[in-house]
Amino acid sequence: MPAELLTGKEAAESLYEELKPLIKKLDPKLVIIQVGEEATSTVYIEHKKKACEQIGMRCEHVMLDFHSTFETLLEVVERLNADDDVTGIVVQLPLPPHLAAALPLIQRAIHPKKDVDGFTAYNLGKIFLSKDFEHLPPATPAGIIALLEYYHVSLAGKHVVIVGRSNLVGKPLAIMCLNRDATVTVCHSKTTDLHQKTLQADILISAVGSPKMITADMMKKGVVVIDVGITRTDNGTLQGDVDFDAVKELASAITPVPGGVGPMTVASVIKNTVRAKERQI
Ligand code: GUN
Repeated sequence: MPAELLTGKEAAESLYEELKPLIKKLDPKLVIIQVGEEATSTVYIEHKKKACEQIGMRCEHVMLDFHSTFETLLEVVERLNADDDVTGIVVQLPLPPHLAAALPLIQRAIHPKKDVDGFTAYNLGKIFLSKDFEHLPPATPAGIIALLEYYHVSLAGKHVVIVGRSNLVGKPLAIMCLNRDATVTVCHSKTTDLHQKTLQADILISAVGSPKMITADMMKKGVVVIDVGITRTDNGTLQGDVDFDAVKELASAITPVPGGVGPMTVASVIKNTVRAKERQI
């Protein structure tokens, strides 16, 4: 039997219905800073703006020139930190190459109470304490957890194997799964015998950005597969990390790309913005 499709769009819509009355009451405002017109970032930002528009949340897009200096970007972040009308700040990644080395400083500059991406050390550190302290969790891991909850996939006692150890996804997701009583294995580019690890997974999550690297022979029957990877191929289509057509015959559930984790990341940023406003007042 082909796998159940875990569509982020449906789960995100359900989250938006919950958030709408809070947005109406609290009137939060999200500000997204983009430096340069990287095509994929422009698409992601359009998704965030469209979602905000759809649910009635204020969203401002601050566009900075590709050649902007570190000082200019810092000034913008500091101005937004000081503006009481601004609830949440997102600095869209990737930054242009000349700013990439300064990323930790930029992230540190965002006030933790306005860090709706959940990237600052303060918000990342809090998720280490327990589930109860996940106040502004990183958006993509939080979106994955919400997606699993929506489709009643429990984490307790499951063996979750995560491929990818980035600060944005793999590492914080491992902690958040641990907070929900999963047994977690994190694999990365130096992992030996990757197949042997992925074959043990009850829930297999890939966040690498390498098209079709996760193949059907790497997993057991009935596994739940979450594909975070998203790569634009030469012919312009979006491709996940997972060999979807082969894997869907084996897995019990699988996320599509696009339309799986992506909409949940957007929904998490919006949820975090609402939560940030609740904690600011
Ligand atoms: N670029 C790709 N994904 C993300 C995200 O979740 N947040 C930000 N700020 N930039 C991104």
